[in-house]
Amino acid sequence: MATRTLDDQLTKYLIDVHSIEVQALAQMKAAPDLAGDDRLARTFAEHLDETREHERLVREQLEERGADTSTLMDIAGRVGGWAMIAFARLNPDTPGKLTAHAFSYEHMELAAYELLRRVAERAGDDDVVELARTVGAQERAMGQRLAACFDTAVAASLREKGAEDIESELVSYLTDAHAIEAQSLKLLEAAPALAGAGELAQVLQKHLDETRGQQCMIEARLRAHDAEPSRLQSTALRIGGANLGAFLAAQPDTPVKLAGFAYAFEHLEIAAYDLLRCVAEQASDGETIAVALQIRGEERAAADRIAESWDAVVNVTLAQLVGEPAV
Ligand SMILES: [Fe+2]
Ligand SMILES: [Fe+2]
Ligand SMILES: [Fe+2]
Repeated sequence: MATRTLDDQLTKYLIDVHSIEVQALAQMKAAPDLAGDDRLARTFAEHLDETREHERLVREQLEERGADTSTLMDIAGRVGGWAMIAFARLNPDTPGKLTAHAFSYEHMELAAYELLRRVAERAGDDDVVELARTVGAQERAMGQRLAACFDTAVAASLREKGAEDIESELVSYLTDAHAIEAQSLKLLEAAPALAGAGELAQVLQKHLDETRGQQCMIEARLRAHDAEPSRLQSTALRIGGANLGAFLAAQPDTPVKLAGFAYAFEHLEIAAYDLLRCVAEQASDGETIAVALQIRGEERAAADRIAESWDAVVNVTLAQLVGEPAV
């Protein structure tokens, strides 16, 4: 039953985006101290200023819409949006992991603004369209700056650990990749029930098959290094959330949130395989380099396909929520 107007939905999306920025602020404040490298620390510090501005701009739009913003910070801290559930339990313990998580988070923000823009376009709110465009571009740029730091971050991680033993480091990054694929499988297996009918469901189904293949490839590399996949402990390189499926299912706009979250998750994988490639290069392990490059390409293609589904996902979900005919 359609109980909300398109305008109400737009306000809801602004509140979601606001909670994502509040979480981003906390991360950007903590990140420079964990960065372990000057360039990386500067990259985070610069984005802290941008993030403050994003939070302010979104709050301003909410105020203009007459939303009660006095409790916004509390709400973000208490129940939060998708980002809270997804990233709340993260505790990246190395510069490499910190960079990977930040890279993924920037893409969650980018997805949130891309989805917000689509809702604002349909609601005819030009100011929010413009805001979403401007801030989305800054999130994308931050993502690119972080991607340029993966090599630096790995070097800092290895330096910090005093890692003379590159072999055990390589196994540790393979272990991370394995853990992340296990989590990806969980998400993708739950996805058909969450995605609704249509493009997104098809994209995720196709990627589920790919993901099974990826996990086999990583297991083979682990065995080549005398490590046993079945005994692997999962690591900090993961997004928190046995509860994620339940959280997404409870959202009135489940397919939209899934579409944003899955995009961020693919970018966590892209980052993980970039880190793996860097370490494999240090270890002169040509086969692992090849595997990392191949899988990274698949994750990137999956992310692109998810982004291509956003128009359809927003149309169908809004049609259900507000009774607008799907465009
Ligand atoms: Fe950001
Ligand atoms: Fe994967
Ligand atoms: Fe993936």
